[in-house]
Amino acid sequence: MHIVSFVTQKGGTGKSSLAVSLAVAAAECGLKVAVLDVDPQGTAGEWYKRRSAELPEVHSPSWTYLSSHLYTLSRQGYDLAIIDTPGADGHAASAAMREAHFCLLPVRPSVADIEASKPTVRYLNERNKPFAFVLNQCPTGGRTSRTTNARMALQLLGGLCDPSLAYRSDHVDALASGLGVTEFNSLGKAAEEVRAVLH
Ligand SMILES: Nc1ncnc2c1ncn2[C@@H]1O[C@H](COP(=O)(O)OP(=O)(O)O)[C@@H](O)[C@H]1O
Ligand SMILES: [Mg+2]
Repeated sequence: MHIVSFVTQKGGTGKSSLAVSLAVAAAECGLKVAVLDVDPQGTAGEWYKRRSAELPEVHSPSWTYLSSHLYTLSRQGYDLAIIDTPGADGHAASAAMREAHFCLLPVRPSVADIEASKPTVRYLNERNKPFAFVLNQCPTGGRTSRTTNARMALQLLGGLCDPSLAYRSDHVDALASGLGVTEFNSLGKAAEEVRAVLH
């Protein structure tokens, strides 16, 4: 079972939205996938309550049981576990980084987000954990200099997922509807970008 954790100390960068939309997109590809919500804010868990479909499941274990929960999922034949973490340094985020095979760090194209990611990057580098940034909520209408500069900075800091994701209302509306963006508007650009990040 592959384990991917969404981590960044900043709130609002897109950890929860991307975690659930990627999980839906992975399930649409036939993967057995679960989201583990270890954020006390419970954004992914609340999304699951709004959802009528059962899959992908969202579980909300305490971070103290994260390791044993992952072990159980892997015994049950899950292909992928996606861990959604709080936007703060702490035990839950550290446990999620420890357990992950790969970490995704969503950041918006802003100096504040990029600077705030540095402690997370340091933590991951010290432990030789592979990771990539996901540049999220970029201005629409082509690459602006802000997006281009952010891409360059993030490549230098450790690597960047392709493509960047634009600011698209489908993400907000899908989250509110208990859907992934690929379900909310399967032919939309947000869906296209999420599928491309998955592949
Ligand atoms: N690419 C995007 N375009 C538009 N809104 C987005 C995008 N990514 C996330 N959002 C919205 O931004 C808000 C914060 O995202 P969220 O996933 O809760 O961030 P985090 O989990 O990092 O705190 C939510 O309302 C979410 O739907
Ligand atoms: Mg969140």
